[in-house]
Amino acid sequence: MNVFRITGGRRIFGRARLDSAKNAVLPILAASMLTEQPVTIEGFPELSDTRNMLKILTTLGCKYELTGDVVTIDAGIASKWEMPDALSKAIRSSIFMLGPIIGRFRKAVVTYPGGCEIGLRPIDLHIKGLKALGAKIREQHGMIYCDGSNLRGATVHLDFPSVGATENLMMAAATAPGTTVIHNPAREPEIVDLARFMSAMGAKIRGAGSGSITIEGVKRLNGTRFRPMPDRIVAGTLLTAAAMTGGEIELENAVLSDMGAVVDKLQRAGCAFGCSDGIMSMRAPEKLKAIEVSTQPFPGFPTDMQAQFMAMSCVADGVGVIVENVFENRFSHACELRRMGADIIINDRIAVIRGGVLTGARIAARDLRAGAALVLAGLAADGVTEVEGANIIDRGYVKLEKILSDLGAAVERI
Ligand code: UD1
Repeated sequence: MNVFRITGGRRIFGRARLDSAKNAVLPILAASMLTEQPVTIEGFPELSDTRNMLKILTTLGCKYELTGDVVTIDAGIASKWEMPDALSKAIRSSIFMLGPIIGRFRKAVVTYPGGCEIGLRPIDLHIKGLKALGAKIREQHGMIYCDGSNLRGATVHLDFPSVGATENLMMAAATAPGTTVIHNPAREPEIVDLARFMSAMGAKIRGAGSGSITIEGVKRLNGTRFRPMPDRIVAGTLLTAAAMTGGEIELENAVLSDMGAVVDKLQRAGCAFGCSDGIMSMRAPEKLKAIEVSTQPFPGFPTDMQAQFMAMSCVADGVGVIVENVFENRFSHACELRRMGADIIINDRIAVIRGGVLTGARIAARDLRAGAALVLAGLAADGVTEVEGANIIDRGYVKLEKILSDLGAAVERI
């Protein structure tokens, strides 16, 4: 059951409700380590990445109870500061466990994460920032050993507004004595959500979403109940699916201010947006226009929507250009799209796409968003498309085949 079979040519039509965002829930689960009191998260998305994060917390000694989509984590008796190797590799972003483990135990041992399908993904900014906060860090035999016994507030300047590094530093600084200022932090909505969550736990954080974040260390954090933000990347994926199939979609809980760059590009491609009673709606044009997209940190166009927009460019009228500025190896979907008849030229980080017609083929997902893009390509293609690697797509989309089928598409898992 690891392949999505899609029969193309059906319009996406209808209304969907978004689950909580994977990229918000993961650091929030990690931050629940910072308190000895129970933390309850509502709207837990049933994904392999979020499940793996719960396993990591269990291995560190935490207990959790999942009822429906509400999970309660009790880190009161957590006693381990070594991250399990296999799980850290399964979920690459688990590097941001480093901050909460140091925050809680003043020491941590984690596996060096290494690169992945989309790029080298170094962690130098995480390490540099934690060192600035007073952590002593030794990297040896693929492991990272941290001694945080002298952890204290400090000023940190990030050379690049890394999402993971910003989250790690916020979590490590929350209980470090003194004031921490992070200059040039990531401004992604998920950072603001993490700050909201940590503030609900009693952390003193100002400026999340702006050009600098200030954290006054507190002695301890308390438990809380929290519903993380809706998933803006799932929202963008569904909008793109509707755009590519000449469809019409309504999203019940999408947050427009989190999606400005994506909405702007869809409008340029000819899509018409509306908003009433908090419901975002979009109608596709008869023929999409080719557009230019350049990925940037928020509020720029998200790298997590780049692959979906490449699929869209394949069926637009004219020549589209995509520049990937965030990750150095994030065009794996291009060669799969070519198998479907796409005309794409790649030069380093630039892709030039001549719009035309896609035809169904058997193709393979190599990373999460690339996989979603291939499913979208299948929706707009002539004939039947089979996308291998449904399990990769399950990392970030809760039953994508059901979401799309409910909207009128013909997608099944085989
Ligand atoms: C997060 C998201 C991921 C998304 C990405 C960009 C989570 C769990 N993951 O990943 O889905 O695609 O943001 O929005 O939220 N970099 C360094 N040194 C570092 C850290 C990063 O050079 O220490 C570079 C990376 O190689 C990359 C860029 O900075 O080129 C952005 O990375 P970053 O923002 O850290 O992304 P992640 O947190 O890994």
